[in-house]
Amino acid sequence: MNFPIFPPEASKVAQQTDYLYWALLSLSALVIIVVFGPMIFFLFKYRRGKKADRRPVDMPETMIEVTWTVIPLVIFTGLFAWGANVYWTIQRPPPDAMEINVVGKQWMWKVEHPEGNREIDELHVPMGRNIKLILASQDVIHSFFLPAFRIKQDVVPGRYTTLWFNAKRLGTFHLFCSEYCGTHHSAMGGSIIVMTPDAYQKWLMQGAPGPTMAQQGETLFREYGCSGCHVNSTIVRAPPLEGLYGRPVPLQGGEIKMADEAYIRDSILLPAKDIVAGYTNDMPSFQGHLSEDDLLKLVAYIKSISDTTPQKEAAEEKEK
Ligand code: CUA
Repeated sequence: MNFPIFPPEASKVAQQTDYLYWALLSLSALVIIVVFGPMIFFLFKYRRGKKADRRPVDMPETMIEVTWTVIPLVIFTGLFAWGANVYWTIQRPPPDAMEINVVGKQWMWKVEHPEGNREIDELHVPMGRNIKLILASQDVIHSFFLPAFRIKQDVVPGRYTTLWFNAKRLGTFHLFCSEYCGTHHSAMGGSIIVMTPDAYQKWLMQGAPGPTMAQQGETLFREYGCSGCHVNSTIVRAPPLEGLYGRPVPLQGGEIKMADEAYIRDSILLPAKDIVAGYTNDMPSFQGHLSEDDLLKLVAYIKSISDTTPQKEAAEEKEK
């Protein structure tokens, strides 16, 4: 009989999550036994009409109070620490993670690999690599859910969210949208396909590899006229973008912001929001002119001209 209660444990985090889940479940079962066992026993022992000894018993009350307060406190604080530890792991992508972009829209998932490969409602990944998804939404709130990996993340319009995992099992697993997002919400699913690193490399090559995301971003950078100001030789003084990604940026007014994906995105859409110290805001807003796809490509391009991106290092390693 093949009727699994749980989806397979296909990521490293899945196992940690399940251990915690089973620990919580067993502990709850234990508490039920400790509370309900004696309760049922006394129910019969002291039933009305039964001949039982009902005289008050002298008990060390303080002792009992302290014991049943301190023991659960220690146990449940321990569970909190355990849970926080797993949460910490899930929420912090390792810096060496390979990045894949995912855009949710009614009602599909559009996936773009840095190498330029695109797919819809499917996500091919190599096994055993840390993979970071950068999630964006074109319209409403969606939620990217991989039950076999025990991870889920809201995909919110107007901002980037991330999710990371390390697949440890080959095969095809379900992928869902788990936030009600309109008529065809229930159909907004697909599969994640975990392959061996070799098979993944082959898959990348046979997918008619056109320009990479960063290269497409460079084209957009010129088409939208960004290069008119953001290149050193121009007369208009705009902050240079080389080496920007991953660096702290001093802003007018003394604040310092980290140039991550979200910062770059905001700077394109809302240029007046964070003005770099020493500059004036001469840039028009691109809100409403760029799709999430194009934004991700521009961000990929700006990341590619910085030295700190993991993708570039990975690409360089491959060339060696
Ligand atoms: Cu997208 Cu539900």
